[in-house]
Amino acid sequence: MAAVPNAVEMHGIVKHFPGVLANDHVDFELRAGEIHALLGENGAGKSTLMNILAGLYKPDAGTILVRGQPVNFNSPRDAIAHGLGMIHQHFTLVPSQTVTENILLGLDEPRFLIRLSAYDKQMAKLGERFGLNITPQAKVWQLSVGEQQSVEILKMLYRGVQVLIMDEPTAVLAPQEIEELFKTLRAMVSEGKSIVFISHKLQEVMEVADRVTVLRKGRVTAAGLKTSDTTRQELARLMVGREVLFRLEKKPQTPGQIVLQLENVRANNDKGLPALRGVSLSVRAGEIVGIAAIAGNGQSELAEVITGLRRCTGGRVLVNGEDVTNRSAWQTIQKGVAHVPEDRTHVGTAPNLSITDNVIMKSYRQPPLARGWSLNQIAAQRKAEALKEEYVILAPSVETQVRLLSGGNLQRVILARELSSRPQLLIAMQPTRGLDVGAIEGVQRLLLAQREAGAAILLFSEELEEIFALSDRIVVMYEGEIAGELTEHDTETIGLMMTGGKKQERTA
Ligand SMILES: Nc1ncnc2c1ncn2[C@@H]1O[C@H](COP(=O)(O)OP(=O)(O)OP(=O)(O)O)[C@@H](O)[C@H]1O
Ligand SMILES: [Mg+2]
Repeated sequence: MAAVPNAVEMHGIVKHFPGVLANDHVDFELRAGEIHALLGENGAGKSTLMNILAGLYKPDAGTILVRGQPVNFNSPRDAIAHGLGMIHQHFTLVPSQTVTENILLGLDEPRFLIRLSAYDKQMAKLGERFGLNITPQAKVWQLSVGEQQSVEILKMLYRGVQVLIMDEPTAVLAPQEIEELFKTLRAMVSEGKSIVFISHKLQEVMEVADRVTVLRKGRVTAAGLKTSDTTRQELARLMVGREVLFRLEKKPQTPGQIVLQLENVRANNDKGLPALRGVSLSVRAGEIVGIAAIAGNGQSELAEVITGLRRCTGGRVLVNGEDVTNRSAWQTIQKGVAHVPEDRTHVGTAPNLSITDNVIMKSYRQPPLARGWSLNQIAAQRKAEALKEEYVILAPSVETQVRLLSGGNLQRVILARELSSRPQLLIAMQPTRGLDVGAIEGVQRLLLAQREAGAAILLFSEELEEIFALSDRIVVMYEGEIAGELTEHDTETIGLMMTGGKKQERTA
């Protein structure tokens, strides 16, 4: 029997970075026509392995075979020429250009304005074949994150890739967009293409992947396990090396005084259109209020208005009874407001600065870190080292630039900075996005500890499971308004409210 060669084989891949062994003799096998999930804790070496396969990094040792033939890539271009393409978490599209222009960018094909419409047709057709909903003439800046991801996929399909590597593609998508993506991936494998799917969401892996490979600290702990032969619990154990509890203990607690009060708040989005249409709500000390909403229903704007990053066009924001409407971000920090932002790399951290600089960013003006006009370097470093330990930030040292950290460890840097300030009010946007199951458990415990310490917490999460596990009250937002408020875990009612199917009369 003539066996179909594997789409890709990686043998004995080794990759060192200063102070880290990111891949330690990793073997990885990808079959033709399969969706293969790559799982592992934050920093396990998933992105590194795939960056090697996509021609971005050179391995220190090991071999790669594509359809049985040894290859040696010097650039992503080389990899694409062999039919291997990767989509990273941060897209590389040019906002001012159209979808078609972006896809043609960097190709050698002649491009004449007169032919652009012909290309548009071609893109539309290709998109349709794989269930990608795109408008070739649209400018990229007009597109949602999910649509931009579709453009990235189309770009790879247009280049004829046989193997598509996606690094945490669902982390930025809303639930329905995830289903759309899965349809596209299934359409691709039905044509014999192969997909590598990196994700931390075990449920998704079980749903969409045929097989799964698990990495732990740079080594393979399960190679090509069939998803039909495993369970969520087993995968979690393979990743973390211990049993992971999917249940948290939340102590009953009577909330204290109102810390955050929003009165009829209005604001516009970046395009100048109304994003908040009169939002009123309150959060008390020692209480977690969860905001359930599908992306784009005003929740980002709401968080920004409270943290001084966006102007209110109407209404009032009060913290501990004091009117802080349209104060600066720095002033809100002074009032004890902490913020775990959605966008980690731009708003959340300064990528080129060290872990130390990033964790002290908000406290350097106060003693003991401030010494007269200068910064007490030793105190700063000591504080950073303590936080690195407490928040389990995996990095060679506190001097490491945060841009070199894995996605999950970057999130821990932000959490360390924000939670260590003992906030009175914490605005947490998708605090566990991109974290591995063990880390999610850790962060959720940290949030509950903040609640017990008396912080008022406004939690934004697209994971209903997370909202249920942590919240004392659940507020549903739809199209910039509050659609309802619940204390019970009624998925059906919440789902209806999130999609505009039901609205509650409220007095608050
Ligand atoms: N360019 C780099 N320079 C230095 N160290 C790096 C670099 N890229 C990755 N690392 C380190 O290699 C290790 C593996 O990182 P990698 O990004 O592959 O992890 P990951 O499994 O993708 O994690 P996550 O789930 O958090 O994204 C980490 O310790 C990371 O800090
Ligand atoms: Mg990664």
